[in-house]
Order: sequence, then C-alpha cells, then structure tokens
Amino acid sequence: CGIVGYIGQSAVQEILLSGLEKLEYRGYDSAGIFVVDKIGNSHLFREKGRIAELREVVDFDVPAQMGIGHTRWATHGVPSIANAHPHQSQDGRFTLVHNGVIENFQELKATYLPDVALTGNTDTEIVVNVIAHFAKNDALTTKEIFREALKVVKGSYAFALIDSKDPEILWAAKNKSPLLIGVGTDFHVVASDAMATIQLTDQYVEIHDGEMVQLTNTDFAIETVSGSVINRAPYKATVDAADLEKGMYPYYMLKEIDEQPAVLRRIVQQYQNSAGELEIPNELKQAVEAADRIHIVACGTSYHAGWLGKHFLEKMAGIPTEVHIASEFSYNPPLIKGNPLFVFISQSGETADSRQVLVKVKEWGYPTLTITNVQGSTLSREANHTLLLHAGPEIAVASTKAYTAQISVLAILAATLSEEKDFALIHELGIVANAMDSIIAEKEQIAELAEAYLTDKRSAFYIGRGLDYYVSMEAALKLKEISYVQTEGFAAGELKHGTIALIEEGTPVIALITQAENASHTRGNIEEVRSRGAHTCVCVMEGLQQESDQLVLPAVHPMLTPLLAVVPTQLLAYYATLQRGFDVDKPRNLAKSVTVE
Ligand code: G6P
Repeated sequence: CGIVGYIGQSAVQEILLSGLEKLEYRGYDSAGIFVVDKIGNSHLFREKGRIAELREVVDFDVPAQMGIGHTRWATHGVPSIANAHPHQSQDGRFTLVHNGVIENFQELKATYLPDVALTGNTDTEIVVNVIAHFAKNDALTTKEIFREALKVVKGSYAFALIDSKDPEILWAAKNKSPLLIGVGTDFHVVASDAMATIQLTDQYVEIHDGEMVQLTNTDFAIETVSGSVINRAPYKATVDAADLEKGMYPYYMLKEIDEQPAVLRRIVQQYQNSAGELEIPNELKQAVEAADRIHIVACGTSYHAGWLGKHFLEKMAGIPTEVHIASEFSYNPPLIKGNPLFVFISQSGETADSRQVLVKVKEWGYPTLTITNVQGSTLSREANHTLLLHAGPEIAVASTKAYTAQISVLAILAATLSEEKDFALIHELGIVANAMDSIIAEKEQIAELAEAYLTDKRSAFYIGRGLDYYVSMEAALKLKEISYVQTEGFAAGELKHGTIALIEEGTPVIALITQAENASHTRGNIEEVRSRGAHTCVCVMEGLQQESDQLVLPAVHPMLTPLLAVVPTQLLAYYATLQRGFDVDKPRNLAKSVTVE
C-alpha cells in the first residue's frame, strides 16, 4: 500500500491523487482521499479499483488545505469501498491511512473496543477507533492521544492521521513501513516514497521506526513515541521527475525493457575508477574477503537474480554461496559456521520479507550488504554496506531492468574479488549492451513469436540447463505474472521426472540454449517434449544454432548470457499480455513493492 499526506496552500485533491498515482506500484485494489477545507469541513472519497476510478468521484471544488490519501494492496479484507482507506473513527473525529499490518488487532479490539460495531474488516479501522477510545479522556491533547494509541499498537505501520478538531495539524508515525517527510516553503507532505511528491519538493527528512511526527504548513517536529525530541536535517532526493514519465511508450514495461542497454552502460561507468578498473568501496571489499560463505536473501525476481549471484561469486570469487527465499528463511535458517556475509537483493529496498531477515541477521551480529535500486531505502539504510543498481525508477510491476542491473552488479562484485584478471568484464558487458540493443531493435519478430506460441494458451514452459535454468525461472515468472498464462520454468533434464505429464498437443515449450556444454542435452529434452506434442520454440546463442531454431541471440561471453537471454523472454511476456488484452504494467493481485510479510 502507499500513503500520502499534505498540509499547505494549494489544490490538495490534485496533489494527493497525483501522489497516489505515483504510488500505484505499491497496490491498486482500492483507493481514497480525505480532505479538510478552510473552515474545518471534511470530505471523504473512496473507490474500489485504481486511482483513475477514484478521480471520478472526487469533488475538486472543495477548497481544502490539508488531506491524506491511500492506495491499497489488500491484506485484511477484500478490496471494497468499506475496506478502502482512509478509515474514520465512529465518532467521525479521527481519520487515518495506514500501510502495514497490525499484529495485535484482535487483542486491541477485545481490550478497547468491545462494544464498537466495525463496518469493514481491516486492522486500520480498529486502530483509528482505538485512537478515538483514548480521546475519551478530555484531558489529553491530540499528540498525547496519538501517543497512547501508538504505545499499544504492535506491528508494522506508516500512519497519517487527521484530527478534525484540530485541522491545522497533520500527524504521522512509522514503524517498519516506509514513510518520509517532504519539506516545502509553505507546505509539508508525508509519503511512502519521495517519488510521490518529487514534483513538489526534493527536500526530504527520514522518519525512523518508533517515531511520530507533527506537521503544519510551516513546521515539522519529530519525537519518539516515548517522548524524546529528534532533530534531523533534510536531504536532497535524487529522483529525476522526468524518469517517472512514460514518454512515448504505451507502457512502462516496454520503456524499462528498452532502457536495459543504457542501464548496463551506466552501471559499468558508475563502478569504474579513474584508472578505468571496476571497483567497489574498500570497506565492502574487506567485508566480502573476510567472509567464508555468502548468504543471498531475496524475493521474486530479485531471488532469481540471486542464483546468478551464486554462480558468479562461486566461479569468479571462489566464495561458497547459498540463495534463500526471504519468506522461508526463518523456518529453515542456514547452519552458520565461520564468517558469513548476508547479501540482500531488493529492487525497492523495502520488501518486508527481506527486511525481516535483515533485522534477524543484524541481531545475530553478522555483516550485511544490500544491493538495491533505491538509495536511502530501508534495506539500504539498515545494512552495513550498499551497492546501487543505478537503473532509474522501475515502475512496471513486472521487474525487467532491475533484474539485469542486479545480475550486472553481482558480476561486478564477484569480478572485483577475483584473483584472475583475464576476464575483461567491462569489455564483455559492453558487448552484452550492444547485443541487447540488437534484440530490442527486432522486437517485431518477438511480437510475432508471442502471437504464434502464447497468446491463446493456458499454460507454457520455459526450460534450460545451468544458467539457462536460472533464466527460465525468471522468464516463467515474467510471463505468468502479467499474461496469466500458467508458466513453469524448469530444469530441462528434470522435466521427464514427472512434469512432462503436463505436455499436451500444442503446449508451448520455450527452450533457452546459451551454453555449449549443455546444448546437446537440452536439445534432447526438446525432442522428448516435441514427440509428445509440444509446440517448441528454441532461443539459442549464436554459434550453437540449428536451422530450425526460432530465435538466435548475438554471441556474448558464456558467463553473461543470462543478461541477454532474458530480454526476449521479457518481450514475449509483454507482447503476449498485450495480445491477450491485459494491463501490462498493473497485473491483477500484485504490487511492485510488498511491504507486508
Ligand atoms: C514484488 C514484485 C516483484 C519483486 C518482488 C521483490 O512481489 O511484484 O516483481 O521481484 O516484490 O521486490 P524487491 O523490491 O525486493 O526486489
């Protein structure tokens, strides 16, 4: 979910709505805004679905000077108007938006609200009524009321709160969910991400866990929930507002696929020192060299990139590496001996599952590195070291350029630790960038393949061996998450041990072949499925092709083929989704940044 709050002078409705549009990557099941006008009248607008639908019901003529808004990714309760935020206390005095999950909501309800009949099913509605419960004590100020409530609430939250009795102040608080203060000359904002309000200001102030904030037009004050005053200076956010626009592209995903060669070149530039060599910060280099085992922790696409990280770190740097799904980590923690280093890969730097592991690893006292696209994100702030992806904002829910950026940065990390200098990574990455350009230039061919193989299908497979298996997992995720074609990425040799039973007449099986060492084996597996009716498509590296192959990729260094092989699979997912008539950038049920566990 994403939240935004504003107190100041100008068109509040538009500021909140355009802020929420920028935060839609965090969820888009339902949305709402609450605004207060100059004479204290308040107006609540909520709608199921996207911000565009909320826009239809908002009254822009209300002369508001303050407001809060929310775009939701449902956790407790179905997407509906009743469950949409903002939520109001039953007496109408308090209005709250929330990102996060309240763990003790049942206990809060039983303790403080035994007689309150709630209208929706959300933990947030309970919190706003708990706030109202503490307000029954007339002696308490709004700040004291809010503080009493925060003391009893357990879980993750970013809150923005309005007390209708005091419409000159906007309140906020944070614990484990992201929230920033934006500072303007005669206004203040709070937002889950600086992207939401970067058009208004580039000056932001961090809020740390366990802090509450009081905002007026001209001032902000931060205190811990226990009452200590915090002084913290603003920093300049570096999001380029132009990067947030689609420009000529119909969808962000296509723009982001196209940006990959440029991102790759930028990464090489960013990690090069004045002598033209790849370099990582010295303290990080020492930390990695001191490690005898690396544990990579990530979710989704970042987890898939982690497997390439394992390959590079083991092959180039000689460090044993394990890869963990963040949400599984606590049930099956690694057996730790010696000196481990934990590496968190996260495009957003905010994923709650990954953060939970980071918190645990810090308690254990082990060194940590975050590889992320977002400077100043939670996972970056909380780890000992950060490597940035330099990919620019990634808006489409389906991750593309962040994946290739992650692989590139992992390769650079491994190469800087490698004893052997004969692998000229800078040069090889340059060849990959050019090869990406040539695939992107031939998109139309891939659009035709999507139509021929995927558009009218219910299920599909990607298969490959070695590095091609890792890419198959990501290729399958891309296709299923946006086109809803049920797709599995499979180790080519493993298919025959059960899953081949799913192959029917016409089932698409896309094989990736980029490694000379396993090409003939994968070809054998292609024959096995073809003889059982599969509609096979071969995407092969130049030099390994046969005449019947559908797609030939320019030759690149065998270690770096994933960077290239993934690009046609991203385009296949993109075109199949377009042809099937779905929203490429905002697939159903998903959010780009999942800040709940
Ligand atoms: C969400 C997104 C995925 C992403 C995953 C991890 O589920 O929909 O595309 O890979 O989170 O996100 P992160 O920001 O940690 O890389």
